Amino acid sequence: MGAALTYDFDTPIDRSHTHSVKYDRRQAKFGRADVLPLWVADMDFAAPECVRLALAERAAHPIYGYTVTPPAAAELVAAWQARRHGWAVEPEWVLLGPGLLPLLAVAIEALSRPGEAVAVPTPVYNPLTECPERLGRRVIRLPLRQGQTGPAEFDLDAWSESLTPETRLLILCSPHNPHGRVWRHDELERLAQLCLRHDLLILSDEIHADLTYPGHRHLPFANSSAELAARTVTLNSPGKTFNIAGLNTAYVIVPAPAQRTRLQAALQAHYFEGPNLFGLTALLAAYGEGEDWLAALMAYLADNLDLALATLAPLAPRVVCARPQATHLLWLDCRGLGLSDAELKRRLIDAGLGLSPGTQFGPEGSGFMRLNFALPRAKLREALERLVAALA
Ligand SMILES: Cc1ncc(COP(=O)(O)O)c(C=O)c1O
Repeated sequence: MGAALTYDFDTPIDRSHTHSVKYDRRQAKFGRADVLPLWVADMDFAAPECVRLALAERAAHPIYGYTVTPPAAAELVAAWQARRHGWAVEPEWVLLGPGLLPLLAVAIEALSRPGEAVAVPTPVYNPLTECPERLGRRVIRLPLRQGQTGPAEFDLDAWSESLTPETRLLILCSPHNPHGRVWRHDELERLAQLCLRHDLLILSDEIHADLTYPGHRHLPFANSSAELAARTVTLNSPGKTFNIAGLNTAYVIVPAPAQRTRLQAALQAHYFEGPNLFGLTALLAAYGEGEDWLAALMAYLADNLDLALATLAPLAPRVVCARPQATHLLWLDCRGLGLSDAELKRRLIDAGLGLSPGTQFGPEGSGFMRLNFALPRAKLREALERLVAALA
């Protein structure tokens, strides 16, 4: 409680003309430059002071030459995973690189061949299906069960039927974007059995892990068992947690030496030599000193979430939303309105609101909209009131 009072998430910060995708791409995306942006998954909050000070100090030194990643980076990642998620990671398992998606692409290249299949539970953050497609892999979509009430769930019997002998990888989004699910131990256990039965390697995107709400616990998939650790590559980044996505810095954790060697070779083939100078500087500060800020952020986001759910409740049953267990994203089920996806999008744009259309995350997202609630509370209140008026 004390921590929440010492950080300011309420004061609006003007982000226009800062080369921000969320603000500066509004005209292109929505046909209007003035919609309240509730789309791209970054936050309208200042990064932690420890990060800003470290960057300012490094920027004050006038030479920005070639950069070497010190051992402290992997050590801090390992300590962070142990402290936050109870996973004993060896620093040597950690490879740093320029963003989670570039690392995902390298991992797909290193661990599968063109023409092989990659299975992905859907709907999902769209690059997780686009990336294997762009690399010439066949994507097998594994639809999640998404009822009107209650959280989305794995549909393992149906998924088992969909997997072919050519399926090499499964990409897991854990916690899940856009559903905000934190997968439980029993769910992950059954998914692990499926992966073992079908001899799949798992790429586990855990970028939202630190944004898990009280009452839920993020479980790193690789930490389930030694058997799973040997076939899982975990991808993560301080980008979401500390709102530093523009610094393009992420890492993979690869416990199996043979897979690590393959990934290292693929990284070298692309000349991916670790993070850039400022991304590295931010990572060291964030994982070293950012935890109090993170506690305050999560308290603020939880209050924003309460406000959003309470304000939207009168729209039920035509618009409903399961409470996300992690992330700052609401997955609004608008199917009860009976509108087409185009009509739904139009109605919200006319109300001055820029949300992500559910179809962005796959055909399973038809009738849904994704709302990012990581913004100052007064702005969020305004957005929610407009949303209720537009959909009532
Ligand atoms: C699940 C997931 N993975 C990856 C990313 C992007 O990661 P990066 O910016 O490090 O490439 C996002 C961003 O929204 C995400 O939601």
